[in-house]
Amino acid sequence: MQRMHIHGGRRLSGRIPISGAKNAALPALAATLLTGETVSLRRLPNVVDIRTMTRLIANIGSNVEQGGEGLSVQASGDLDPTAPYELVKTMRASSLVLGPLAARCGRARVSLPGGCAIGTRPIDMHLAGLRALGATIRQDRGYIEAVAPRNGLIGGRVSFRRPTVTGTEDLLMASVLAKGESVLENAAREPEVVDIASMLRKMGACIEGEGTSTIHVQGVDQLHGADHAIIPDRIEAGTYLIAGAMTGGELTLEGSRPDHLRPIITKMRQAGCEIEEKDNGELVVRNDRALISVDVTTREHPGFPTDMQAQFMALMTQASGASNVVETVFENRFMHALELQRMGADIEIGGNLAIVRGKTALTGTDVMASDLRASACLVLAGLVARGRTVVHRIYHLQRGYEGLAGKLTAAGASIEIVDE
Ligand code: UD1
Repeated sequence: MQRMHIHGGRRLSGRIPISGAKNAALPALAATLLTGETVSLRRLPNVVDIRTMTRLIANIGSNVEQGGEGLSVQASGDLDPTAPYELVKTMRASSLVLGPLAARCGRARVSLPGGCAIGTRPIDMHLAGLRALGATIRQDRGYIEAVAPRNGLIGGRVSFRRPTVTGTEDLLMASVLAKGESVLENAAREPEVVDIASMLRKMGACIEGEGTSTIHVQGVDQLHGADHAIIPDRIEAGTYLIAGAMTGGELTLEGSRPDHLRPIITKMRQAGCEIEEKDNGELVVRNDRALISVDVTTREHPGFPTDMQAQFMALMTQASGASNVVETVFENRFMHALELQRMGADIEIGGNLAIVRGKTALTGTDVMASDLRASACLVLAGLVARGRTVVHRIYHLQRGYEGLAGKLTAAGASIEIVDE
């Protein structure tokens, strides 16, 4: 296991390239299972979750080759539609292969997911959706099995109890090969859902309405190969915007999509951060003013993303006044707050509300990362803390941030990765 040593107090300045979005790349890899032809994917981030998903589709029977700019995947020949426990225990997104495998092979067997320890994270909506397309669902010894009718999945009406990002992606992938029309109601509207829909369309799928709450799909008999570049990671970009705002100096983010970052940019500007959007899509964050506290409530897109809540909380420890941070998407997603308190932050937690009072001087100490975004929050806090912060269990960070230590170091941070 590795840990990260951060010596705080340095201003960051320079340019940070934004990688492809992990959460768009995961369904994109799963979608390659929908055709026997070659699909080329570019801008996949080099992170552990993507390597796990690549191993998973190779294990199912895909031929995966490293190309110049990305991966070429061909899922021809015999496929074993199983996602085994060994491969998926660290990654909940394994449930993303349920839909494509049920559609392509008529059967999918997926180990129940592990992944981030943020509350109860069921997959009941994925399963209810597959049932609505005619599948039979069984649970057996820790595995979920979905079996399509003899002639394949049948188009149907899938009405999500609440918007689910991977659930929407999973059902989108299931319905593109189902017979007839499917309607996904109360669908997630995240940019990653729009990205997977546009990739599926390049593969020959017939989809309308992605990015809204109702998606219509006309099933087709088969899909074909395509070439797709993954969208930039809005959560990675948001994390570096906050790093720039907390440390002062000037950071330029290359290759982000400001339109995907709107709720984050809006909140940061309200807190007094200066963010410039250049014509070429670059974002520049500068901070020479005192930060002021603002309230934030996480919501499904286009609301403030839950994946930025922890990082925003770190920012609020450096703002004057009281900030109410409300988490409505996941239960039990304040583990980072306890570690921030140990660094000197003034945070009061009651249910899904955290009240952050600032500005507080943070002090470096040993802290434990509990999930991916919590780790990012602790790194941000470490960048401004006095002395040395040691972030343990950084494997969480390595699941989702490509080269975080290198990118921050290139911008002037003092960070070392040390073996435990
Ligand atoms: C995705 C993202 C994750 C992000 C989350 C919310 C990926 C790989 N992960 O996760 O980074 O934090 O969206 O933006 O894209 N729920 C159920 N039953 C289900 C599915 C979900 O009750 O079958 C609940 C969840 O517990 C949660 C809410 O619905 O409370 C939304 O979760 P969901 O959008 O499904 O999150 P993920 O797709 O797992």
